[in-house]
Amino acid sequence: MAKQKTTVGTINKEVLSFTAGRDVELDINLIKADCVGTAAHVTMLSQMTPAIITEAECKKVIQELTGIIAKAADGKFKIRLADQDVHLAVERTLTETLGDLGKKVHTCRSRNDQVALDLRLYAREELLGTLEEAVALISALLAFGKKHQKVPMVGRTHMQPGMPSSVGLWASAHAESLLDDCVLLVSAYELNDQCPLGSAASYGVPLDIDRELVSDLLGFHCPIHNVLYANNARGKNESIILGAMSQVMLSLSRMAQDLMLFTMPEFGYFTLPDELTTGSSIMPQKKNPDVIELVRARASRVKACELAVYDLIKGSPSGYNRDLQDAKEPFMEGITTTRACLRVLAPYVQAIQVNKDKLLAGFTPDVFATDRALELVGEGMAFRDAYHHVKENLGELESINPSKAILQKTHLGAPLGIDWALLKERTTAVAGVVSDEREFIGNAVKELLSV
Ligand code: ARG
Repeated sequence: MAKQKTTVGTINKEVLSFTAGRDVELDINLIKADCVGTAAHVTMLSQMTPAIITEAECKKVIQELTGIIAKAADGKFKIRLADQDVHLAVERTLTETLGDLGKKVHTCRSRNDQVALDLRLYAREELLGTLEEAVALISALLAFGKKHQKVPMVGRTHMQPGMPSSVGLWASAHAESLLDDCVLLVSAYELNDQCPLGSAASYGVPLDIDRELVSDLLGFHCPIHNVLYANNARGKNESIILGAMSQVMLSLSRMAQDLMLFTMPEFGYFTLPDELTTGSSIMPQKKNPDVIELVRARASRVKACELAVYDLIKGSPSGYNRDLQDAKEPFMEGITTTRACLRVLAPYVQAIQVNKDKLLAGFTPDVFATDRALELVGEGMAFRDAYHHVKENLGELESINPSKAILQKTHLGAPLGIDWALLKERTTAVAGVVSDEREFIGNAVKELLSV
């Protein structure tokens, strides 16, 4: 059997490619994180007593790491199969350029805590990006809803006509759903914001490393306390983040489903501009809502990614197990898919045209049945008597002007009681978290790399 020399021993070729799996491609997403993590680690090594490397050596390593980051940004840093993953690719490169100094960077560290760290550095950027994209979509929904807050729309239960409602209520319901998802994303961000480095193989090291310093240098809130948990949290952290992502997708798929119905010619409530629909290869007239169909489909994909990670770790014993490597692909796919859906929907919402006449045409007299019963309550009748009275005389119901009907619904959260300022405030608060965190992290990394 053919063998191949690697940074950490000679391995059977088949075993090498089987065990490296998709890491060689997926780890491209982790190059910057790996270099930033290594910069913090060597800074800490240079401050230990006795120091593992000198401050001058630390600077040299960081300069090389900055070079790798720049190369990676141009797509020019290559991870080879013989490297197995990004961690050994970076170490090999440092050893090629710095000789013996490169061989010291891995002191007191294992790839297990390195990958746990890289994924957290990757995740914090992705989570901030997701929040930013969610804010853009929420803002689009709120602008759309506010603009059409007085446009009547039949409110449905069981998909059957129910009571008078408004386009504004519909749009802000989807915005509020996403605002709740942002709470989950921010919680996932906070849990992710803990530094695992120093776990080493899962059990710490017999030298006095400063885990707090590493955490601070990287702009984390704190280190994960227990080193075994720092490793066990791999997979769990991904599953928490994907859980938040699948909630986002749940919100999006419901919105997508509504839009599919409301843009059907039979409804015609909303129209989509041509450039956001796709045609057919045989039927010349077609304008299909493929975008929202795919959003619906991808909600299942993201949930599948979450379950894939959950399933991988649910039977996994404590300490590092190689199974964890296979969580990387669904983790990255779930995040990338969610973000793409958020991005495609914001301009979509902005472009929706509202057809007021079609919306009004949906108001048959029975839609006012409940309003009529409550009108009788206002005149002193008990609700159940009013209910039966209206039920027995449905044929006599008079059409009320839908615009007037929704003007009556002014209590908190009702069609004309939506607190747009409150929803906007919640949105602004999320945007504030994103910009504060970006600034804090950006400054930490900048300082770390500025030697
Ligand atoms: N690529 C590996 C992963 O993602 C890195 C850690 C390898 N550790 C090991 N003990 N083989 O899990």
